[in-house]
Amino acid sequence: PSTRLNIFHLVFLCFSLFSHGSCPVLECWFMKEKVSGGLSGGPNQDKSLLYVHKHADSHRAESHDAPLEVNPDRLYFVTDPAATLCHRSLNPRRGSSNKPMCEINPLHPQPSTLELAVPLTEPALSPIYLHADWLSTALQSFDKTMSISAITRAPTGTKEHDVILTLTTKTVLVQSRLGAPVLLDCSFWADPSSPLTGTGFAVEWRYQFRGDGRLVLAYDGKSDRLSHTGEEGATLDFEALHGRGNASLILQEAKVHHSGIYICSVYLPYLQAQVAMELQVVEPPSLSIHPSPLPLTAQGQTINIQCEASGFAPLSLDLHWEFKGADGNTKVLGSGSLSSHRQLWDGTYTQSSRLELDTADLGRAGEVACVGVHPGGTRRVSVEINLIGNSPSIEDSMAMVGVALVLYGLIKLVSWSFSGSEKRIKTTYVEGFKARRWTSFSLVIQI
Ligand SMILES: *[C@@H]1O[C@H](CO)[C@@H](O)[C@H](O)[C@H]1NC(C)=O
Repeated sequence: PSTRLNIFHLVFLCFSLFSHGSCPVLECWFMKEKVSGGLSGGPNQDKSLLYVHKHADSHRAESHDAPLEVNPDRLYFVTDPAATLCHRSLNPRRGSSNKPMCEINPLHPQPSTLELAVPLTEPALSPIYLHADWLSTALQSFDKTMSISAITRAPTGTKEHDVILTLTTKTVLVQSRLGAPVLLDCSFWADPSSPLTGTGFAVEWRYQFRGDGRLVLAYDGKSDRLSHTGEEGATLDFEALHGRGNASLILQEAKVHHSGIYICSVYLPYLQAQVAMELQVVEPPSLSIHPSPLPLTAQGQTINIQCEASGFAPLSLDLHWEFKGADGNTKVLGSGSLSSHRQLWDGTYTQSSRLELDTADLGRAGEVACVGVHPGGTRRVSVEINLIGNSPSIEDSMAMVGVALVLYGLIKLVSWSFSGSEKRIKTTYVEGFKARRWTSFSLVIQI
């Protein structure tokens, strides 16, 4: 019975592979247009399904297996010759709870008001072509690494859509070290058979951070020139742009002020698609301890140690102190007294911490470390600590006894070998004592 079950599964698997190819059936939310003036009653979004295929003739009566809860008006059959929507990260395993996100909005093509894109719309285009059902679909892959924006067109009244323009980014979130080159990925595909693709395109990159927006770069593909460069070191690969629709933004050197949201927009006459991505410039701190090495300190005294963290971004840093004793045990000493942050000319931050270290119960030796935990990594710097005891420790007493015994042995040896001149040796010792103020314990040995 188990083999029969496996064969059944296999047949089922083959069936689903053949019926959908490698292109997914996308579950999307269709966002209804707000009716102006009317009270918004009922839900403003509908569940919908997008059956995607590379070839138009692959759509065959698929609506039969549509789930009942989806309104048949919200089933769409999309032909995507470039197979952008067939990427495997849009097609999760069956039963997986991580699903791609998908939202559909109705679209009304309009001549662009953007200065850059106005020349594109000059030639009068067939109104019949524009007069159709247009949809704009925004997708994010289930692993959240890829975003796609797709514009599709269907003859009025039908549900059979053709992909006209897609825009993809595979760098939804980019982290970069300070000073490293950055590539923000953005590529587009436009249907070459569409009347909208003959007259050229335009690309625009915008930057947004906490409500502050600016134009980074604008490229007019019709006259092949950059019409705006608001950012030093920001450029496109023009060969890749014209050859493969690769509109990726290249930043030669990541700076702290580059952190933020970037929006890549591609314009065709009457159409515009955009995708957004985030760049985080992350640099861990450099740590230093002062004074280093630490001055010799008597046990029980307090030592003041300073740790400086510099050159880090973003702001979030946890600075704290640790003590590692000679026995290997580590003790967390807290964060000390922290200074406020200072921002340097390059946008990175500095912060310092002062530790008043009470040495009373630290033992005789160990290591004090300053630890900085930062999104860019954890850094630590340490300094050795050696304390001078006030009263002799047990080890010191043992050593003294040892030295005394060795001396005693030596003297005995000397007195045996010169047993005849014992008196002379004694005299020498007494003179030595007078001259150099020997300690009392060597006198004891002599007697
Ligand atoms: C786009 O162009 C950039 C710069 O030449 C390159 O590094 C990147 O790999 C290209 N992306 C694709 C998807 O080809």
